[in-house]
Amino acid sequence: MASCTRIGLVSAALLKNTAYGNGSVACRASSWWSHVEMGPPDAILGVTEAYKRDNNLKKINLGVGAYRDDNGKPYVLPSVLKAEERLSAKKLDKEYAPIAGSAEFCNLSINLALGEDNEQTKNGLNATVQGISGTGSLRIGAAFLAKYFPGNKEVYLPTPSWGNHTPIFKHSGLNVQQYRYYDPKTCGFDFQGALQDIAKIPEKSIILFHACAHNPTGVDPKPEQWMEISKVVQQKKLFPFLTWHTKDLHQVM
Ligand SMILES: Cc1ncc(COP(=O)(O)O)c(C=O)c1O
Repeated sequence: MASCTRIGLVSAALLKNTAYGNGSVACRASSWWSHVEMGPPDAILGVTEAYKRDNNLKKINLGVGAYRDDNGKPYVLPSVLKAEERLSAKKLDKEYAPIAGSAEFCNLSINLALGEDNEQTKNGLNATVQGISGTGSLRIGAAFLAKYFPGNKEVYLPTPSWGNHTPIFKHSGLNVQQYRYYDPKTCGFDFQGALQDIAKIPEKSIILFHACAHNPTGVDPKPEQWMEISKVVQQKKLFPFLTWHTKDLHQVM
């Protein structure tokens, strides 16, 4: 509740400062923020808006990857409900985590990502911090690279990538470029196109990969294609930045 109260106080202070705090459009037009433009619509979330407007009884929303039951209603996995119950039973104290996040959470996460008994964590070669959500973690990573990456401050994203990736990296101060990824002709991975583009990336640049379940296409390289990509990445001394929002879930399914 503390953070809710704080947000309330900040908004109240902002409104008071503008002296146009009654919320009417006329007042807002002459406020400090009247020059702020409406952001572009999000193409992916726009699919959900179109879905809501559509009267077709057989409609299916393929815009975002969320579970639905046979009636199209949100479906929460039993494993998620169980995890909630376990957490609730622990009666955690809800105190602030340290600045880099919960050490236990970080250890469990990195071992989940790299596999138990991996060489990196065994030899203390990792630095792991906890972020808030995929978006927050990408922002922390992008800001860190913008400040400290010693190479070329350009990040290469697959075409397409998740909608908020380009603004996150741009706002963090990195130049954003692209490499071929999805082939609309085959609805599959453009392996040759990706390899050709990656081979042209200037040395010591940053390259973003979706580790699995590429969003929004759902198209992933095969293990042997990953090996080829990895070779080129090493030859070009590229820095791989992996976003990993769904560990192997699509393989389980
Ligand atoms: C590849 C990728 N990056 C970032 C995000 C954003 O993650 P979050 O919704 O946890 O902020 C998503 C969300 O689905 C994603 O698929």
